[in-house]
Amino acid sequence: MPKKINITDIIAMKSAGEKITMLTAYDAGFARLLDGMGIDLLLVGDSLGMVLLGYESTVPVTMEEMLHHARAVARGTERALVIGDMPFMSYQVSPEEAIINGGRFLKEAGCDAVKLEGGCEVADTVGALVRAGIPVMGHIGLTPQTAGQLGGYRVQGKDAESARRLLADAGALEDAGAFAVVLECIPAELAGIISESVTIPTIGIGAGAHCDGQVLVTHDLLGVFEKPVPSFVKKYINLAPQIKEAVASFASEVRGGGYPDDEHSFTMRVDVDSLLD
Ligand code: KIV
Repeated sequence: MPKKINITDIIAMKSAGEKITMLTAYDAGFARLLDGMGIDLLLVGDSLGMVLLGYESTVPVTMEEMLHHARAVARGTERALVIGDMPFMSYQVSPEEAIINGGRFLKEAGCDAVKLEGGCEVADTVGALVRAGIPVMGHIGLTPQTAGQLGGYRVQGKDAESARRLLADAGALEDAGAFAVVLECIPAELAGIISESVTIPTIGIGAGAHCDGQVLVTHDLLGVFEKPVPSFVKKYINLAPQIKEAVASFASEVRGGGYPDDEHSFTMRVDVDSLLD
């Protein structure tokens, strides 16, 4: 069994200049595949609301939905650090509620850490979680749970004022005890400045090459769906047409009697005619 990655290993990777890899996983099968390929961090992202559950945004995702998928990912993972994404309104009401919900990811789902969105405004909550023994990853820049307040899904930190705010947010999260921070949809230069200004690793998504690690939604990089993906996503394979072709072949063979053939059927050990006597 491979050695399980821990938070100290992740922070040490930044010091050693080793890039950190993180991908989303929502089920045990994908977790096993990604973990087997040596991905360092598996994020049970609340993006599962849109990717798997058909919601229009991440806002409706519930704790129960997150825990259901987080349990599956934890079961399928041996080496990677598994991070459960705290859904909207599971940590905003009070630090106490955040501890109860964050604790469920560790106790009930087997996650190693949680992630939550926000900067200075959630620093107290991050501190409370960390003091309670729950490792926290921050998430700043484009924060999908509050995208409406940010003017939609758009690049953040383009002007001096918002760039300074993001720098302060990253510092506040580090001071509160977060072990890493996701930087989503911010200019590459700003991500570089933030990455140099904090000792904890930055994990970028649409934040350029200067971050200490990178994360993508796995279904996006695999091209599983036909809908457009954000411009920062690189599709390493375009599976949707291949999936459609395979499904079309199945349907046409079933309809035409080509499937199942002898190779994909079971045979009996007795003489069939003897059953009819
Ligand atoms: O929910 C998610 O998948 C995320 C990543 C995109 C960082 O928060």
